[in-house]
Amino acid sequence: MAQKLIYTNHVAQELDRLVEAIAPSNIVVIVDSNTKSFVLPRMQAESEAIAKASVIEVAPGDANKNLESLSSIWKQMQEAGCNRLSLVINLGGGMVTDMGAFAASTFKRGVKFINVPTTLLAAVDASVGGKTGINYNGLKNEIGVFNEADAVIISSTFFNTLNDQEKLSGYGEMIKHALLSSKEEYESLLKHDVTNIDPDKMLELIKSSVAVKEKIVTEDPREKGLRKALNLGHTVGHAFEELSIERKSPIPHGYAVVFGIVCELILASKKAGFPNAEVTRFASYIKDTYGVFPFTCKEYDRLIALMHHDKKNKNSDEINFSLLEAPGTIVLDCVASDDEIKEAFDLYRELSGE
Ligand SMILES: NC(=O)c1ccc[n+]([C@@H]2O[C@H](COP(=O)([O-])OP(=O)(O)OC[C@H]3O[C@@H](n4cnc5c(N)ncnc54)[C@H](O)[C@@H]3O)[C@@H](O)[C@H]2O)c1
Ligand SMILES: [Zn+2]
Repeated sequence: MAQKLIYTNHVAQELDRLVEAIAPSNIVVIVDSNTKSFVLPRMQAESEAIAKASVIEVAPGDANKNLESLSSIWKQMQEAGCNRLSLVINLGGGMVTDMGAFAASTFKRGVKFINVPTTLLAAVDASVGGKTGINYNGLKNEIGVFNEADAVIISSTFFNTLNDQEKLSGYGEMIKHALLSSKEEYESLLKHDVTNIDPDKMLELIKSSVAVKEKIVTEDPREKGLRKALNLGHTVGHAFEELSIERKSPIPHGYAVVFGIVCELILASKKAGFPNAEVTRFASYIKDTYGVFPFTCKEYDRLIALMHHDKKNKNSDEINFSLLEAPGTIVLDCVASDDEIKEAFDLYRELSGE
């Protein structure tokens, strides 16, 4: 990846150093109303760049990662006198980094931007790798571009105002990275309690987790092959996430991903030789740490329909998965039939004690 990743627990210092080198004509900082109250005051006090930046605030949550919010960002960038030499700083979770990065990438055909992720999920996943965008017409991340930040400043000092659920959600993506990486990394993650890790240890864990994504994205920046491995858990996970939204009780993204991983490991045990005993152990760890996603056999068809809508499936008769033969051994482009997926759902519910 071309983007500079900086791991530090002295964010203001690093940010000011970077901004001095860029020497922008003016700076805007994009926040949502939560990062405005939890993070911005501290950053305004500590960082010269943030103190002099114009603040653009958006409403929080993925539901606001939409055209209306994006348009209000473009408008406020105009009002702040932004030009091609302006700098955008995205200070927030994945919602702010996705949409702020897209706003910066399209304003005047693209201005420089720096991501400062303030959630664990954004630090380990959303803020790195160059995918930017917004949701549109009921579909997630429908409009966007690939464009890497000039720099991403990753710090664990923002996480003490996150609740346990948000920490666990980010940890879900770390578990995914560890499974894609090696048995050692995966075993090591299962031993930690993410709700209670000291900031320096956390920063170290984030660094190895991002390294897994970085390696994959460097090899395949435009998702033509290997990058599809990062979809582990997401084919089923997105369907769980969308079903939970339809039920009007949304589950956090990282929870949907770990429940999705359990189902996809069940499929992997059938189609790619992933050890059965490991599936059982992983399912029980996830149940103890995250709970389970409850559903009945009456909902199988809806879940499968949601998977067919997933834009990553080339052919709508079959569903594509990135599966694992073992932790660290990836098998791309596996195809499963609806019946095989239903069988995996049966087993998931059995393992969940549902
Ligand atoms: N671009 C990618 O590759 C990629 C990858 C994964 C996820 N995403 C996107 O990321 C988004 C999810 O990211 P997220 O979980 O960070 O969501 P988010 O940005 O909505 O943040 C979750 C909640 O935490 C609040 N928050 C943020 N920082 C805080 C802090 N330090 N203290 C207290 N509260 C804080 C937010 O206001 C929000 O209410 C989704 O839009 C998803 O599509 C993108
Ligand atoms: Zn994800």
